Amino acid sequence: MELMGVGLLGCGTVGSGVAELLLQYADRLSKRAKRRLELKYILVRDRSRKRPIPIPEKLFASDIATIINDKQIEVVIELMGGVTEARHYVLAAIQQGKHIVTANKALIAECGIELFEAARQHGVTICFEASVAGGVPIIGTLAQSMSANQLTGIQGILNGTSNFILSSMSDEGKTYGEALQEAQRMGYAEADPRLDVDGSDAAHKLAILAQIAFGINVNGNSIERMGIDKVHAMDIRFASELGYTIKMLAEGWLTEGEVALHVAPVLLRKTEMLAQVRGVNNAIQVIGDVVGDTLYQGPGAGRMPTASAVVADLIDLAIGRAQKTFDAANLWTPAGRGYSQRPASKVHSRFYLRVLVEDRPGMLADVARVLADRSISIASVIQHEAVDFEAYLKGMNKTSAQLTTEIGNKTTINRSNIRGGSFAGTGTILPSLIQPSNSDANLSHPTDSNHEHFNDIVPLVIMTHYAPTGNFRDSVSLIDHLPGVKGAAVYYSVDD
Ligand SMILES: NC(=O)c1ccc[n+]([C@@H]2O[C@H](COP(=O)([O-])OP(=O)(O)OC[C@H]3O[C@@H](n4cnc5c(N)ncnc54)[C@H](OP(=O)(O)O)[C@@H]3O)[C@@H](O)[C@H]2O)c1
Repeated sequence: MELMGVGLLGCGTVGSGVAELLLQYADRLSKRAKRRLELKYILVRDRSRKRPIPIPEKLFASDIATIINDKQIEVVIELMGGVTEARHYVLAAIQQGKHIVTANKALIAECGIELFEAARQHGVTICFEASVAGGVPIIGTLAQSMSANQLTGIQGILNGTSNFILSSMSDEGKTYGEALQEAQRMGYAEADPRLDVDGSDAAHKLAILAQIAFGINVNGNSIERMGIDKVHAMDIRFASELGYTIKMLAEGWLTEGEVALHVAPVLLRKTEMLAQVRGVNNAIQVIGDVVGDTLYQGPGAGRMPTASAVVADLIDLAIGRAQKTFDAANLWTPAGRGYSQRPASKVHSRFYLRVLVEDRPGMLADVARVLADRSISIASVIQHEAVDFEAYLKGMNKTSAQLTTEIGNKTTINRSNIRGGSFAGTGTILPSLIQPSNSDANLSHPTDSNHEHFNDIVPLVIMTHYAPTGNFRDSVSLIDHLPGVKGAAVYYSVDD
């Protein structure tokens, strides 16, 4: 059987899974590939580091040159992560005529045009199935299986960590902070979870899907995103009362020759297929003009699910299928397919708006007037009697001092203002507001009826009808400054 030499850059979580498959399942894989797949070299930073599987010492290369100059190596698998060095090594391998397999979404999303142009120039192929949704075969589906369709929409749960946190908040009533801690304890979230929870990771993956689905060149960093770290347990409960669940969605929609792209928490009807995706799973709904709605779901990360996608790419290269798809798809050309990005302000959506207001007559009318002035009509309103102060602070993952700064220096929150009752019910409690000198000390020293004036604050929740995002956002900035409105309004799109 003809040999196909493989060089592996990185032997961490995914790389060690790939090495395990190549070393321990060589016979099975070679039969599928119709060639003998041989792992010839592995490049790592620290050769002395313990690996999840035993790696023969002779496989470790001393430098990148050993790999890219080896004539038997036809494919370089990049599983190092990061952009700078990965880009440098991948370009060097392409120039030496090696095919590339990578799981690195940041590399593809940020350097797609450069890498794909170089690959076309040198007659090699880049495969990246594992870069989006790990073990879910979404790249092949979009690039091959949907080719009879004009794709019109993609909605994806593309970050397992965010989905785990939101699922824990919805299903177990946890606050954001509690759910994040659990994700970290279970190894689903990094010690620094920013890229997962702020939408950056999902935006990179969306940039890749948008390229395949719509042929639009967009850098992942330029996709508008909103993270889940501001999602309050209160909003999860209000959404649930209204029949919705909150999911972090990466979305791309083709409308009038423009593609709208964004990553944000969205209210989805509980009956929607995507609303039912729980835990660390990923799922992507793809809508084609011929096929209609389709859904793909599975493990979006992890050692072996991701290695499964990487090795499938390798087999596709060995049998020559990947090269044909690469040529036909013609991805990341400088001109793209001619679609431009639709500005967020033009995108029409329904909205969920939650604003904390003083509990006094006329507040709802004031907020409604601002919306009406921008032709935004209200579909429904919920106004509970008040917020549970402690639950509110806990859900915000904030101290009263931080909240005070957010709400405005003129005010401080004092436990003495709590009136009893509970947040989830109709009872009533609330951070009320007093003087600037008060601080967290007030939390452990309740009362003090000398405090002048206790204005209760109530959450006002409004569901709008469809409106342009630009109009809606303008309204929100005005609402934030209305007298009697406390803190910044929270809003999410509603998918209906
Ligand atoms: N983890 C997942 O579940 C998952 C899922 C989908 C996609 N991905 C993507 O897959 C890629 C790898 O992720 P991972 O989780 O496997 O990363 P990882 O566990 O941190 O492993 C990275 C590996 O690359 C090596 N490395 C890093 N920089 C290097 C350099 N300059 N020269 C030589 N070796 C270098 C490291 O060497 P040492 O071992 O010596 O430190 C390590 O073996 C990333 O692009 C990631 O986004 C990961």
